[in-house]
Amino acid sequence: MSPEKVTIQDLIQKKSQGQKITMLTAYDYPFARLVDQAGVDIVLVGDSLANVVLGLESTTDVGMFEMLHHTKAVRRGVQRALLIGDMPYESYQQRPEDAVANARRFVEEAGCDAVKLEWFDQCVDVARAIVQVGIPVMGHVGLTPQTAEKFRVQGRDLESARAIMRHARALEACGCFSIVLECVPVELAQCITDDLKIITIGIGAGPECDGQVLVTPDLLGLYDRFQPRFAKRYANIGADVLESLKRYCADVSGGEFPSSEHSFYLPDDQIDMLDQLELEEGE
Ligand code: KIV
Repeated sequence: MSPEKVTIQDLIQKKSQGQKITMLTAYDYPFARLVDQAGVDIVLVGDSLANVVLGLESTTDVGMFEMLHHTKAVRRGVQRALLIGDMPYESYQQRPEDAVANARRFVEEAGCDAVKLEWFDQCVDVARAIVQVGIPVMGHVGLTPQTAEKFRVQGRDLESARAIMRHARALEACGCFSIVLECVPVELAQCITDDLKIITIGIGAGPECDGQVLVTPDLLGLYDRFQPRFAKRYANIGADVLESLKRYCADVSGGEFPSSEHSFYLPDDQIDMLDQLELEEGE
């Protein structure tokens, strides 16, 4: 029996009951299964794919092809959680009709329940157009990696705090069901969460948001090129994997793998057939 799917209505109910919402990223089938089995409410196929999986420098280096390819794999592994596809750079910053067409691909080709997009100047028109065709949209304000010049905490002065509040309100007004607040001070995240009716999900935005998201390889210690201060590390899988791979190499070099336990042998009454193994000409 497949588990009951998480709906946006379930998330709204969680917010209204003061229960925290959990969200994690996944980029492939095995991890999609694991995060789903862990009971997470939302799985995001983030464009962080670029850095943590594809080894690229910037999230702007992935496009629709890579995002859809990975999202389809994640879809096969997620049975319960709400699945959100992150719209890549330049897939929604042009005309709203192109953004709608790309959002539809996330839903129709990759099986997403919703899409996420980062704040930019014409974001409201684009988000509204996508919502109007029936695709739920999660916005993303504060630090927006696709267009950020510097990766640092946003909203520390009145002008930028006001701008972030304005963006959050505008996304609520145009029909988004939720927003991600990335790298903003705890107090600002709390003001925005108190001000909005829609769901706030924080990353580096403190405990007062309605829910939290982390990039899964950051929490597992699988990506060692950069460790954001806000990412709590729950494991050091990278080190365990490395140790296992080294042991494999040592076992093969030392002739200890494969042993009889990992090998297949002929039955005793077939051993003689090896005498006839010589191939006939043309075989
Ligand atoms: O791409 C991503 O993983 C994200 C999360 C950090 C929210 O946008």
